[in-house]
Amino acid sequence: MKEVLVTGGTGYIGSHTVVELHNSGYKAIIVDNLSNSHRSMLKRLEDITGVTPKFYKKDLKDQESLREVFKENNITSVIHFAASKAVSESVNKPLLYYKNNLLGTINLLELMEAYHVSSMIFSSSCTVYGEPDKLPVTENSEIKPANSPYGNTKQVCEEIIKDAIASNDALQAISLRYFNPIGAHDSGKIGEFPSGIPNNLMPYLLEVAAGKLEQLSVFGDDYNTPDGSCIRDYIHVVDLAKAHVVSLQRLLQNKAKEKYGVFNLGTGTGYSVLDIITTFEKTIGKKLNYKVVDRRPGDVEKIYADTSYANDKLGWKAKSGLEEMLQSSWKWQQRLMEET
Ligand code: UFG
Repeated sequence: MKEVLVTGGTGYIGSHTVVELHNSGYKAIIVDNLSNSHRSMLKRLEDITGVTPKFYKKDLKDQESLREVFKENNITSVIHFAASKAVSESVNKPLLYYKNNLLGTINLLELMEAYHVSSMIFSSSCTVYGEPDKLPVTENSEIKPANSPYGNTKQVCEEIIKDAIASNDALQAISLRYFNPIGAHDSGKIGEFPSGIPNNLMPYLLEVAAGKLEQLSVFGDDYNTPDGSCIRDYIHVVDLAKAHVVSLQRLLQNKAKEKYGVFNLGTGTGYSVLDIITTFEKTIGKKLNYKVVDRRPGDVEKIYADTSYANDKLGWKAKSGLEEMLQSSWKWQQRLMEET
């Protein structure tokens, strides 16, 4: 069974990817420092897959400690999720973001070289496009100066990976530029489980719907969009997770001619913040307490993906529609409420 190192494997997208790796016959080895995830995720993964994933609580910044994982296992490839990811926090703590995201990636690449691990899937983001001039964005759209240190770390990590590959014939990688992941696994056993008060729309909205938080703030209704609120391309986390497995197979089975590839992972449809609220209210049958407030600094007005390159080259397409995504998010939130 091929062993795949999954950094950040107890996190939101990481955990769903561990399940999809299992479903496709891979063995996931998880490294996570649990800074924004919970150890209980391992039990949840076991409940779904029947297998307790091999787990190391380690920080990627500590290369000597990380080396043990490469020594002790027969790793064939790496899916690299582990990173700090809160946009506003990155504005206040830029050095922390550069240290965590850049150093972690460099340490990992050095170990991959040392232990002859040739393939990496990198967790990138549509944030690399900044405020796009033209929609939808393709993989060839201009990379604009990042709106935040977080966004900059994703741009720089992509460059670091590309340069490392250019200097080493054996290395290959794919950067996956995610749009906005929401939703949860069908089983309701895993989902987004942020520590503390959520930063992102969906976990915040869910906690308001669950009565844990009082009111959702809609950051601005004076944008140049049909209802004035920002537009994003929301994609089901399970669709996203499946794209990682397909990308990995593309590398491991030498399907790609190029050593480095970049793919947009979205649905191709944009929804506004107010669309999300109204569709949630209709689908779940619950009124949401929300209020329009000032714009949030650093927000892009509208962005959604051209997914045709990923559809053609990866043979992958996001399947779930918005209502299904919202239903699965709510199922997960209800389970969390029962548990706590
Ligand atoms: N929003 C609200 N209220 C909230 C939270 C968000 O109105 O309480 C709005 C935002 O203003 C934005 C939309 O909802 O218009 C989506 O915001 P998110 O915070 O959920 O996500 P972003 O689009 O800001 O995406 C950012 C990064 C991505 C990263 C993602 C998750 O750009 O790269 O956060 O970390 F993947």
